[in-house]
Amino acid sequence: MNRAIKFKLKNGKVVTIRRIRGTDADAVIKFLDKFAHDPGAKYTSYYPNQQKKNKESCIELYDDPNNFFLGAWDDDEIIGESTVQKLHPHNPKYRGLTGLTGSIILNKYTSQGLGGKMKTMVEKWARENGVHRFETGVYYKNIRSLNNLLKHGYIIIGIMHDVAVVDNEYMHMYKLEKILD
Ligand SMILES: CC(C)(COP(=O)(O)OP(=O)(O)OC[C@H]1O[C@@H](n2cnc3c(N)ncnc32)[C@H](O)[C@@H]1OP(=O)(O)O)[C@@H](O)C(=O)NCCC(=O)NCCS
Repeated sequence: MNRAIKFKLKNGKVVTIRRIRGTDADAVIKFLDKFAHDPGAKYTSYYPNQQKKNKESCIELYDDPNNFFLGAWDDDEIIGESTVQKLHPHNPKYRGLTGLTGSIILNKYTSQGLGGKMKTMVEKWARENGVHRFETGVYYKNIRSLNNLLKHGYIIIGIMHDVAVVDNEYMHMYKLEKILD
């Protein structure tokens, strides 16, 4: 999964998808800052002007073999990422069986099939690297993300009430999982 692939969006635009490495830290930090100001960030934990990520910790995160950060590029700009991070990989009981996963794509590039494609690629890496279950959370108002996850075989395992506030309204969060057999 270290090779870059080309992926054609439904609108015909071609983007490149490949694994993000520590050497991409600056590009990812720029992307995350852009996403924090993007309309698509509304029903996520991102918010405008949030503190930028520390480069050193990014490098550590992206080069950690227990994590898989997949990026989509339009030319040399990252426009989306889909990730999995193994939970407690060194604990002999948890064994990194759980992979915390998430995806964010700039609004301009959403609903074009990219999220689905990246989910499939992340899942392939997870299966080949000892992840047995995916876990994620989504604000109940984030219908697009919820549909996307349900379509990819996730099931809702619970609801956490009032975890955040958006536009003066409490946000409930669905917890979802997918067992990879
Ligand atoms: C959630 C996200 C990753 C999905 O990626 P995407 O590229 O937009 O999704 P896809 O085009 O691959 O669509 C896959 C499925 O999602 C659902 N979906 C996509 N866009 C949708 C929309 N506007 N409304 C409702 N469902 C939608 C559909 O079921 C779709 O399948 P279909 O096109 O065959 O009907 C992306 O929209 C995104 O990053 N959004 C902003 C950030 C975010 O909310 N991240 C998740 C935080 S938990």
